Amino acid sequence: MTPNEIRNWQPRRFSEVIGTANRPAVERLQRAARNRDVLTPLLVGPFGTAKTSLARLVLQSYCCERPDPITADPCGSCGGCLGCCPEKNGSGAPLQHWVFDCGEGVGKDEVVGFVRAYQFHDKNAVLFDEIGELPAPAQKALRRYLSPLRGGLFVATLTLDGTADRLVKSVIDRLDPVALFKPTADELVAFLETLAGEAGVQMEQGAVHDLVTRLSGSFRQCLQELADSARRTDRTLRWPAVGAFTPDPESDPEELPGDDVPMPPSPFTSDGW
Ligand SMILES: Nc1ncnc2c1ncn2[C@@H]1O[C@H](COP(=O)(O)OP(=O)(O)OP(=O)(O)O)[C@@H](O)[C@H]1O
Ligand SMILES: [Mg+2]
Ligand SMILES: [Zn+2]
Repeated sequence: MTPNEIRNWQPRRFSEVIGTANRPAVERLQRAARNRDVLTPLLVGPFGTAKTSLARLVLQSYCCERPDPITADPCGSCGGCLGCCPEKNGSGAPLQHWVFDCGEGVGKDEVVGFVRAYQFHDKNAVLFDEIGELPAPAQKALRRYLSPLRGGLFVATLTLDGTADRLVKSVIDRLDPVALFKPTADELVAFLETLAGEAGVQMEQGAVHDLVTRLSGSFRQCLQELADSARRTDRTLRWPAVGAFTPDPESDPEELPGDDVPMPPSPFTSDGW
């Protein structure tokens, strides 16, 4: 694996979403995807908890021409899988796919246009990433799409930070909240050790544990450090793994994950199905 492949690592299979606390949510989505049930999940959780990765996986599974019949994993290489991006919105068969990156600025007119064209259309697979970033009038327009929905997929993600309050209640009421949690420190250590092994990165004794602790269990930053180690000529993760750490306010103001109870994703229930 190249350093960039390590840094950009993402789950490509449902089983690759780490964390025992996430198993019930993942299995529920997997089951629905396998049956192509009508599905309207809202993936909620703190920063960097695989909301977007899992939402993409579900979307691809619905759009894939040859998903695994048992696991519902998308093949990752057919037209349906590769078409799941904003540039190819509206293409695909039997389901048309739509990706809206609301964090990148999706306006009311775009959403109203989509709703006008596709209200009462049950053959869409739609992803609204960071739906809380949508302006309120756009969210209200979406209610008219969601109310009569009888088929296909509408998956959205919401980070439990300031934007969570911006999601209008009538939209929340039409979605099924699915909580995602940070993996425990031990789960993250085990994952990183495996990935380092596959990537040919050597590890000094205790370095991975040190990394997870110092980075407060931030999945993204751990991948970044591992990628940096792979860039060095000795491809070794040293102890201590990172120096004084300054949190990046943009992406990951996360807390130390314990092996105890995961963070509750208030105001949503953990199994709100
Ligand atoms: N439980 C997990 N299992 C596997 N990978 C994870 C998990 N949590 C985070 N990651 C990894 O962390 C990175 C960030 O994930 P992703 O962007 O999907 O999270 P997010 O919840 O959408 O983040 P944000 O809150 O910033 O939108 C990805 O590389 C992803 O693979
Ligand atoms: Mg995201
Ligand atoms: Zn495919």
